[in-house]
Amino acid sequence: MNGLDHVAILVSDLDAAVKLYRDVYGLELAEIEEVPTEKVRVAIFGHGTGRIELVSPTGPDSPMAKAIEKRGEGLHHVCLEVPDLPKAMADLKAKGAPLLDEKPRPGAGGTQVAFVHPKGSNGVLVELKQAGSGSH
Ligand code: CO
Repeated sequence: MNGLDHVAILVSDLDAAVKLYRDVYGLELAEIEEVPTEKVRVAIFGHGTGRIELVSPTGPDSPMAKAIEKRGEGLHHVCLEVPDLPKAMADLKAKGAPLLDEKPRPGAGGTQVAFVHPKGSNGVLVELKQAGSGSH
């Protein structure tokens, strides 16, 4: 694996959270993107490695709304970049990692991603991202 790509933080009020990260922490807001298939809006801070993504539900039927209901706001996932996603998935599966996806799926910004269940990595949901995919 190539290393950290981004961390995603679940927030209930995206505009308020953007104000905090931009105006209080002074981070650069790169873009705000809506992902209708996931029913979320995502605010991306910074460019390239080490981005912070704030993820917020767009309605009560969003999976992220249910996640906030269950566990509250906070760290949602850590994304690691991999050079060959299908190969990384096959390797992890062979080593017993609890993958949540059978095959790569579209993520934010046109990326190709797959997820590993938190029970397989010390309570943290891990996203794997195909290197070079997407616009971020
Ligand atoms: Co992500």
